[in-house]
Amino acid sequence: MASQTILVTGGAGYIGSHTCVELLQAGYDVVVLDNLCNSRASVLDRVSQISGRALKFIEGDIRDRDVLDKVFSEHAIHAVIHFAGLKAVGESVVQPLRYYDNNVSGSVLLFEVMAGHGVKNIVFSSSATVYGDPASVPITEDFPLAATNPYGRSKLMIEQVLGDLHVADPEWRIALLRYFNPVGAHESGLIGEDPNGIPNNLLPFIAQVADGRRASLSVYGDDYATPDGTGMRDYIHVVDLADGHLKTLKKLDEGAGIHTYNLGTGRSNSVLEMVAAFEQACGRSIPYQIVARRPGDIAKCFAATDRAEQELGWKATRGVETMCADSWRWQLLAKKLADAA
Ligand code: NAD
Ligand code: WQD
Repeated sequence: MASQTILVTGGAGYIGSHTCVELLQAGYDVVVLDNLCNSRASVLDRVSQISGRALKFIEGDIRDRDVLDKVFSEHAIHAVIHFAGLKAVGESVVQPLRYYDNNVSGSVLLFEVMAGHGVKNIVFSSSATVYGDPASVPITEDFPLAATNPYGRSKLMIEQVLGDLHVADPEWRIALLRYFNPVGAHESGLIGEDPNGIPNNLLPFIAQVADGRRASLSVYGDDYATPDGTGMRDYIHVVDLADGHLKTLKKLDEGAGIHTYNLGTGRSNSVLEMVAAFEQACGRSIPYQIVARRPGDIAKCFAATDRAEQELGWKATRGVETMCADSWRWQLLAKKLADAA
């Protein structure tokens, strides 16, 4: 069988680049469409270096119909993995229209052009943020949905658009993947996450304290109902997450339908546990101070993973030690690249 070609929107980004590595290594051909608003094209050279295979990169925006038409006309796309989107929760509160335009309008156009070209296989990057503040843990996929900010609502809206699309045209094969807290980096140390500006998320912030770019971590609250009082999350290694996408593609090949899966580990760690794990990995101390809770944060969140295990045959295998060790290996290169820029 000729190899299948997968269109990866947002493929130059953090999760997308790791997924491209796994796709290439598994024998898929890869076309990346990315407007580089939160990434650099040079990442894709390192994706090729790791996988030993070339991919096709198109610099363009998912909101550009002509670009999309060209991509689907020039390539026999088997399925789309749709990562492209803006993801900063705080920014989405300040710039809601930008988020709805980029994430929602961009996705609607992508689905429209896909349908026009008869490509009806899609894996969509959703988020555990769609569960809002869950009544209990672990969170199963049928929990009530309640996003609490424009970013989260944009994810929820796209899920609903895909649900409606499936009702209107049952030929579609759709997977909604709700990621918990992706962290870590490829074990090669060649790709990872290195956000511009002040990191919003815990691990990138800790990593920048470790490499000396930031003086200390602010821990947002130590009065939650958790054993050490700090917030607990289901941190998942980005390579496990990437592998979940490959398993999902296989699932879609089984037939039409719409499927929703949590991609998490089913465990959770506190902020202070993550600080300790990172200190262990990098051999440096991470100074921190306890500050007020961050508005909108919840105490504890972790996934029920049974559905993904049973239906996809997928389970995360990497623990927090590996997440921190891989993240630190990448951080050393990320700092060098940042210093050189
Ligand atoms: P990222 O910002 O590293 O990657 C997103 C990529 O999409 C970037 O390369 C960016 O340049 C590109 N992009 C954005 N808008 C685009 C547009 N209009 N046209 C073309 N390209 C565009 O983010 P990530 O962490 O890799 O996240 C990937 C997806 O997973 C996003 O949809 C995000 O919402 C979702 N997600 C991420 C997390 C997380 O914590 N990282 C958690 C849950 C869900
Ligand atoms: C984790 C824990 C913080 C930073 C966010 C999005 C969610 C999803 C994943 C995209 C919490 C604490 C953090 C810091 C801290 N993204 N923290 N000091 O909030 O669980 O989820 O990213 O879909 O939508 O909301 O992740 O990494 O920001 O926070 O103490 O400087 O670390 O309070 O307990 P979160 P996070």
